[in-house]
Amino acid sequence: MPILISPSVLNADLANLTDEIGRIGAADFVHLDVMDNHFVPNITFGLPVVERVLATTSVPADVHLMIEAPDVWAPGYAEAGAASVTFHAEASNAPVRLARELRAKGARAGLALRPATPIEGYLDLLDEFDMVLVMTVEPGFGGQSFITGTLPKIRRTRSAITARGGDIWVQVDGGISRDTIGTAAAAGANMFVAGSAVYSAEDPNAEITALRAAATSAYTS
Ligand code: DX5
Ligand code: ZN
Repeated sequence: MPILISPSVLNADLANLTDEIGRIGAADFVHLDVMDNHFVPNITFGLPVVERVLATTSVPADVHLMIEAPDVWAPGYAEAGAASVTFHAEASNAPVRLARELRAKGARAGLALRPATPIEGYLDLLDEFDMVLVMTVEPGFGGQSFITGTLPKIRRTRSAITARGGDIWVQVDGGISRDTIGTAAAAGANMFVAGSAVYSAEDPNAEITALRAAATSAYTS
């Protein structure tokens, strides 16, 4: 499984997104948190901003939709050219139909689970997705602390994927830092979103490299 670092720009300077993304050349993806103030109590940006990011950067976009009605809105992000589009299981009426639509439009399809949402109902449907995002904080804000109670779900998700022989990524998002990334990687996560850890670092690229090294040495499948 590739070890991938996807810095979130949530805590970057949102008025200078192009420059801020230019500071993370060592990243595998840039994580774009779309919030609608309904699914989560916060609001960020939507499709017009993501379209401009896609037009002005060569880093592949990893879009995380924290919105209601993703069945309606998510396909637009795939059409715009996002490499990966992740929507929340709690918000979608037809996750399999939506994942198929995203894939048909050329994007990777990601299924996100809030900390209290079990993976079990989705285990037989895993082949429909390219990635499962196990939220390691309650979605909505950067800078929160990692919830260690999500580790068993990461482990169960990875072992179900391994048992099926599938090539599905497990992403973690929330509270990922040099202190926590090893535990998440040891539990089976291979894609790591880090917002404040990367953007509060003096040298974001050095931080990305350190995070990748820590995850690589701890990863077990
Ligand atoms: C939170 C967002 C995260 C956030 C992570 O709901 O989905 O992507 O930016 O920020 P940190 O890494 O600071 O917890
Ligand atoms: Zn996110």
